[in-house]
Amino acid sequence: MESPFSRSHALFSRAAAVIPGGIFGHTSPAASLPGASPYFAQNAQGCRYTDVDGHEYIDLLCGYGPIILGYNHPEVEAAAARQARDGNCFNHPAPVMVELAERLVALVDFASWAVFGKNGADMTSWAIQVAREHTQRKKILKIAGAYHGAHPWCTPGHGGWIPEDREHIHAFPWNDLDAFHTLLKRFRNQVAGVIVTAFHHPAFGDSILPAPGFLPSLQDSCQRAGIVLILDDVRSGFRLHLGGSHRHFGFEPDLICFSKALGNGHPISAALGRENLRIAASKVFLTGSFWQSAVPMAAALRCLEILERENVIAHLEQIGAILRAGFLSAAGRHGFSLHYSGPDAMPFFTFANERNFLRNQAFCRAMIRNGVFLHPHHNWFLCAALQDKDVQEILRAADGAFRLLREEFPQG
Ligand SMILES: Cc1ncc(COP(=O)(O)O)c(C=O)c1O
Repeated sequence: MESPFSRSHALFSRAAAVIPGGIFGHTSPAASLPGASPYFAQNAQGCRYTDVDGHEYIDLLCGYGPIILGYNHPEVEAAAARQARDGNCFNHPAPVMVELAERLVALVDFASWAVFGKNGADMTSWAIQVAREHTQRKKILKIAGAYHGAHPWCTPGHGGWIPEDREHIHAFPWNDLDAFHTLLKRFRNQVAGVIVTAFHHPAFGDSILPAPGFLPSLQDSCQRAGIVLILDDVRSGFRLHLGGSHRHFGFEPDLICFSKALGNGHPISAALGRENLRIAASKVFLTGSFWQSAVPMAAALRCLEILERENVIAHLEQIGAILRAGFLSAAGRHGFSLHYSGPDAMPFFTFANERNFLRNQAFCRAMIRNGVFLHPHHNWFLCAALQDKDVQEILRAADGAFRLLREEFPQG
């Protein structure tokens, strides 16, 4: 029988001849469901996309996070096209850079300046440099298993980095204040920065919310010891609170990094910081050939306007709550117990008492066959284009997927 993904497979064969690994990075088929998932996308609109074999999916991954309003949002694309008519890449930044910095500084309560890049890792890596410049210290503390990008100090990949890249990077477990204080004691007066995400969302793991007091305690300890607290809000930014995810969880960092949802799919990232970091920020060289391109900035400005005007975060929470209740009850109807984790706008679930993700993989395979795209090992993302009828379609697909799963795993 011919595979439903024959065009994906044919393209992958061509890709493998000219691109190491065929598809590099997190979208490699090897990281998801080889043979049971599309490898290439053709087009997308709203909350749906179509793969190169012509299958349409309701998308619960949203490009791994950048799509927050829905694909190809007409207002965002019109703003981008208007800027593109004037130009994108110049010898100088365009006025829109100043407008976007002003808008972001107004949104983020503790920030008095903003800078821009293209990717999340541009900003997280620059942020730790700013912390080091400001404090004139070397050590950076991070959460074990947290992802901050693919640069040598933080990549989860195995190749191309040397132990010296991480000589001054030290990890402690999420929610473990004792381990944090042990590191602070061990490296007294040596720690430049602590970098955290607002909640823990490791690949191949349940998401874990901050324990009460965890993030405020980090803030307090950092303040006392003159350490820069960096919030990597690349993944959660604008999904939990328009002013930064620290507002959702009740703490205040010194520096915040955004990317993903900021431009609704246009390549842009930003870092914002406190006034006392302005001098360090101006000393750490920050540039890239395309980092000042104007089109993504125009897209981001319009995206922020729509996020606020349409109260998108409330919509994501509302849709997310319906999905949570629906997934849990569909699973229950077929005798499965789920471990549902993460905020409702960025949910994930695993199957209770399972460690090897086999049921997650079988569930996602069945969902993909039923026209809903999600990932077996990575948290999901909702977008504003999802409406009640889409959610009902997702839940019908889930009911069918759990029924199939029951046959595949009769023991539960
Ligand atoms: C929390 C977090 N930080 C940083 C990054 C790196 O962003 P980018 O892939 O745009 O470099 C990501 C990407 O997934 C992320 O989720």
